[in-house]
Amino acid sequence: MPQSRITIDRDFTIGDVPRRLFGSFVEHMGRCVYTGIFEPGHPRADERGFRTDVLELVREMGPTVIRYPGGNFVSGYQWEDGVGPVAERPVRMDGAWHTIETNAFGLHEFVDWARAADVEIMEAINLGTRGVEEARSLVEYANHPGGTYWSDLRRRNGAEQPFDIKLWCLGNELDGPWQIGHKTAAEYGRLAQETAKAMKLVDDSIELVAVGSSNRGMPTFGTWEHTVLTHAYDEVDYISMHAYYREADGDAASFLAEAVDVDAFIDGVIATIDAVKAAGKHTKQVNISFDEWNVWDFDRYNDAEAAEIAASGWREHPRLIEDTYNVTDAVVVGTFLNSLLRHGDRVRIANQAQLVNVIGPIRSEPGGAAWRQTTFWPFERMARLARGRILQLAVSSSQIATNRYGDVDSVDAAATYDESTGRVVVFVANRAIDESNDLTIELHGMGSLRVVNAETLTIPEGGDRLTTNLEGSPDAVHMVPLAAAEVVDGAVRATLPPLSWTVLELA
Ligand code: AHR
Repeated sequence: MPQSRITIDRDFTIGDVPRRLFGSFVEHMGRCVYTGIFEPGHPRADERGFRTDVLELVREMGPTVIRYPGGNFVSGYQWEDGVGPVAERPVRMDGAWHTIETNAFGLHEFVDWARAADVEIMEAINLGTRGVEEARSLVEYANHPGGTYWSDLRRRNGAEQPFDIKLWCLGNELDGPWQIGHKTAAEYGRLAQETAKAMKLVDDSIELVAVGSSNRGMPTFGTWEHTVLTHAYDEVDYISMHAYYREADGDAASFLAEAVDVDAFIDGVIATIDAVKAAGKHTKQVNISFDEWNVWDFDRYNDAEAAEIAASGWREHPRLIEDTYNVTDAVVVGTFLNSLLRHGDRVRIANQAQLVNVIGPIRSEPGGAAWRQTTFWPFERMARLARGRILQLAVSSSQIATNRYGDVDSVDAAATYDESTGRVVVFVANRAIDESNDLTIELHGMGSLRVVNAETLTIPEGGDRLTTNLEGSPDAVHMVPLAAAEVVDGAVRATLPPLSWTVLELA
């Protein structure tokens, strides 16, 4: 059996676990808002139209911060359309997703929903079709206590107290030709700088995220970040990253190794930030907001779905990119989370995109049930269990050959150590589809620990690597106890099942 060894030392840590690493994303896209989190008339909807069955699953999954309202949608959005009496709100054409937007759900509804879900809000502004004026008006509307035009409008609209939104995105994917209001890096860098300045003049306690590259393959990747930060380094706090992966041409081995690309992408953005910091003699540290990431079969969208949507005319909340996730996808999501955690000293915010229905870990049917997709589980476990300090791991692993990345480690790991409880949690994937892995974890300076819980997400009995959770079989894939995991002579010994993402809790 292939073997791997991880060495952990309590003194080798890279920083605190940033709680905002476990974020998600709600866009006005497809059925994420409408019939996702909001469905007046649904048997489980509350008096505000919030689906309580979905809310319960969101609370269980445990996102800490939610980005809203887009995404591509935000680049054509007028935030004023979504406030005030619902009956008076305009119906608009959303060009990003070829959809009719009724504006029945807007900022006040999202603030109420976020409070019910117990999550922080990360608000994105439109820098596609709009600019400095609308951005600073929105900050005044949301955060100023009162006595001014926009803050008093908020009060008249029923919110006496400010929303106190701390985290703001300066637009979305403006490096992408598909984006409404696509810009060059220099155009965007200047706009981001001036918009950030004006927003902070309204409320200097806010934190701002500049738009980075839409993915690592963008022709402008690297130069985009460099130019944008050269303009706006002093005014912003984070630069964004986005990445989606899919299994292409049945090449599961490469797909399972995508965290290698995530690691390299993050390291490249860190290098660019720090080059601008050094050249500009800046003292403050800009960090990363990885505010869209997931598994998404975007080829299916580009090849067929977008054309179908366009051909079927303008409709309200059509089904859009409702990917159904399998065991393999969940293991890839687990390794993505591992990579984010390994970089938690610099990636301070991350948002799995999106929360419900639209490539969501939660699915819901109009008038019907809500359930957990396979990808729900690694997110839920890491959001709940990653506490304290992030450990720097030494990993020595058997290898797997891949077409895209050459030989890669069969195991992919991240771990945390909570000094207050003495608890160590190791998150470890076995990328091999057909082979178990014999894992040893050497513990240095940890005292005497035992395995108090060991669970794994793997191929269920009678299933295969493509098994999914469907409305009629919502629990086909979930976390199950890991049979053999124990401490022997001061080291953890465990057998990782083929194609698995495992959590080992030591205390
Ligand atoms: O999350 C789906 C879409 O992916 C977002 O709207 C956009 O920002 C990205 O391209």
